[in-house]
Amino acid sequence: MLGSQGGIITGWGIAVPDKVVTNEDLTARMDTNDAWIRERTGIRERRIGGTTSGLAIQAGRAALEKAGRRPDEIDAVILATTTPDQIVPGTSATVQDGIGVPGGAFDVNAACTGFVYALVTAHGLLAIGAKRLLVIGSDTLSRITDWDDRTVAILVGDGAAGVVLEAVDGPGQLLSWNLGADGSLRRLLDCDHGGYLHMNGKEIFRKAVTNVIESSTKAVAEAGLTMDDIALLVPHQANLRIISAACQRLGIPEEKAAIVIDRYGNTSSASVPLALADALDNGRLKKGDNVLMTGFGGGMTWASAVLRWGG
Ligand code: ACO
Repeated sequence: MLGSQGGIITGWGIAVPDKVVTNEDLTARMDTNDAWIRERTGIRERRIGGTTSGLAIQAGRAALEKAGRRPDEIDAVILATTTPDQIVPGTSATVQDGIGVPGGAFDVNAACTGFVYALVTAHGLLAIGAKRLLVIGSDTLSRITDWDDRTVAILVGDGAAGVVLEAVDGPGQLLSWNLGADGSLRRLLDCDHGGYLHMNGKEIFRKAVTNVIESSTKAVAEAGLTMDDIALLVPHQANLRIISAACQRLGIPEEKAAIVIDRYGNTSSASVPLALADALDNGRLKKGDNVLMTGFGGGMTWASAVLRWGG
């Protein structure tokens, strides 16, 4: 049961570095090629650069502007990231200071699943009295990538995107949620202090499809809906083939999926909000539409949320 106070997203914003790195650019550095990357991942180019806090501040400001809100109207900043600027303090503190939010700040690290975890957590805060929250996903995976390791380097990109979530009386837009984790799979995708991202791509691929399907199915059923009722799927952007496989097995036409992986690669915590913002900016959502957000990532973690747009 959700509380008596729900939430609706009233603004959104993105920030990506200016520097575009194409597949062709990567072939100059490693043994790969544009055709392989496009066929196996759907990625054409990615943005590289910036810091996690810097991108988050820019995306947060853009979301506030869209919502017509001032920083001093925000109760807390929740930052989903798996590439914090430093180990201590949490990067959300830098973002809180940079934007000038007088309220609280904390990081959520659930790897690429972080934004969905953060959004669900934010609804919990609204249910116990928070009025307005800034929920941002920001990552700079390029900083923990070995640029000579073609198995990882071709996948990653940097970016941030965020939303303003405001309290409303009644249930609001969140119809259901599902959070999952299996820490016994933590070695499939990890990065030690000072090290580089390491992953078992094939195994992640398999687990991702299974978990995304199971989690999405549970969340949609919990919302009292069927897959036919979903107007927009906002999946984590790790590999277009994972998105296609999930769509096929869920029975959701791929045209209903928000896709930005071709332009941005895998931006981890930023990928779901970047895809959501892109869909919104392209007028793909109208009031009353049902949205399914679903993601997976290191941990392994996975999460889904069903929202009715506009509350
Ligand atoms: N360029 C060219 N060839 C390559 C490259 C490359 N970058 N990488 C691997 N190859 C070769 C391999 O050596 C292999 O050659 P072989 O057949 O001669 O042995 C062939 O291409 C096939 O390699 P596979 O590893 O089988 O390719 P696959 O189809 O599994 O695709 C990929 C690999 C893209 C990594 C895929 O497994 C994947 O996307 N997995 C999920 C990754 C993921 O979601 N990670 C989490 C995101 S990161 C994060 O969350 C922070």
